[in-house]
Amino acid sequence: MNSIDNELDKIQSNIWDELQSALSNRQHGWRTLTLATLSSDGLPDARTVVLREVAPEAKRLTIYTDKRSPKVFQISQHPNVSMVFWCSKLNWQLRIQAVAKTCQNPERAIHVWQTVRDTAGAQDYLSFEAPSSPMKSNERLSEDKNQLCIIDFNIQSIDWLSLGREGHRRVKLENNQLMWLTP
Ligand SMILES: Cc1cc2nc3c(=O)[nH]c(=O)nc-3n(C[C@H](O)[C@H](O)[C@H](O)COP(=O)(O)O)c2cc1C
Repeated sequence: MNSIDNELDKIQSNIWDELQSALSNRQHGWRTLTLATLSSDGLPDARTVVLREVAPEAKRLTIYTDKRSPKVFQISQHPNVSMVFWCSKLNWQLRIQAVAKTCQNPERAIHVWQTVRDTAGAQDYLSFEAPSSPMKSNERLSEDKNQLCIIDFNIQSIDWLSLGREGHRRVKLENNQLMWLTP
């Protein structure tokens, strides 16, 4: 392996290390990302979400949401999504193309709910009305009616951009190949 291949491999493993550290470090810029989907009108839609799980071997990322939220329906219609991360400490941007899939495994959903139920975030999955619908009441659902939904993103490609005074650097990772791009 030559030194250029070595450097590309190092960048790839650094990206996964940073994604994993964003799970436990609330201050990490990659803790939240912009998730872009296509609406049923064919228009772009985007919102901030929290990164919840990272699986480097499977090249998979995961978020949690309310199963009634518009993004879940959008993904069922158009599973191809784009995810954008920015970390001002690293000066790194990630643009990820992925195929989204809602998890249908009830045991996994129960397990995740057990980790969420005693946190402030639990209320995100217990609103009486669907997210993004006009608000009529502040009522909450009971815990056993939680609307938590796990969405997995199978990564198709990663576009990494590093900003630096001495020059920016950009790498594309796709089909197990890494390539330098003009920033
Ligand atoms: C910092 C931040 C983190 C958020 N994290 C999540 C999240 O993890 N999951 C989620 O469904 N919505 C999250 N939201 C709310 C979404 O941005 C969005 O308003 C909501 O999910 C409704 O989106 P939709 O109508 O496109 O489905 C977050 C918002 C902010 C500002």
